[in-house]
Amino acid sequence: MSLIKIVVLTGAGVSAESGIQTFRDAGGLWEGHDVMEVASPQGWAKNPALVLDFYNQRRKQALSAKPNAGHLAIKDLEEHFDVTVITQNVDNLHEKAGSSNVLHLHGELFKVRSTLDENLVYDLDGWELNEEDKCEKGSQLRPHIVWFGEMVPMMEVAAQETSNADILLVVGTSLAVYPAAGLLNLVSYKTPKFIIDPHLPISEGNEYLHLFEEKAGTGMPKVLDLLINEYK
Ligand code: APR
Repeated sequence: MSLIKIVVLTGAGVSAESGIQTFRDAGGLWEGHDVMEVASPQGWAKNPALVLDFYNQRRKQALSAKPNAGHLAIKDLEEHFDVTVITQNVDNLHEKAGSSNVLHLHGELFKVRSTLDENLVYDLDGWELNEEDKCEKGSQLRPHIVWFGEMVPMMEVAAQETSNADILLVVGTSLAVYPAAGLLNLVSYKTPKFIIDPHLPISEGNEYLHLFEEKAGTGMPKVLDLLINEYK
């Protein structure tokens, strides 16, 4: 008998208890910055140094961040289920927690890529990427991040994975950004869904939609236990 397939869609909230700022909470990252200046191709063209510094600061913070109980409970799902983590986050805390099947929809903070050939992607040692850092073809390296207005290359794979899910978990995302938020529409009404967020993005639950109005660090371990008892 094949394992039950669980897809876990995560957002910035799953990393909040690891000390990494979310985007739209009070005091969130976008309150300190103009999105279009630091996370768009236009911003990059206008002031690459500002964009490089923005991601250097986020990398520096993420380098010392540790996975929290939410990440670890998501990793523990793998002992009982076929798990795919689809994250909007660019930090590597799911990987640090030990999750083995992580799909980054919006790119990865610790990867950089050529501005000449987008297939040239490199792991970045440490946290700094500077203007003189070039790819093997001599062009400037840029953050391997999906900026606003850019295509989401992993979306097709993510949609395929989600449409095959037996159970969907949504942890720590405001569901404010598409196409990521649209993944929820790819599971049937009767697919069990579990939403974990202290400020739930969905207000009405039902027999197939279970709402946990709490932080990932406490809600995710509860859902892990529930899933093991109910579906294993
Ligand atoms: N545990 C769980 N959820 C939390 C916690 C926590 N400790 N703290 C905050 N949250 C929730 C918030 O209530 C909110 O619903 O996490 C969510 C964070 O929402 P956003 O800041 O909008 O982050 P996210 O949904 O990941 O944004 C999606 O938008 O800016 C772009 O590319 C960026 O990937 C990002 C995308």
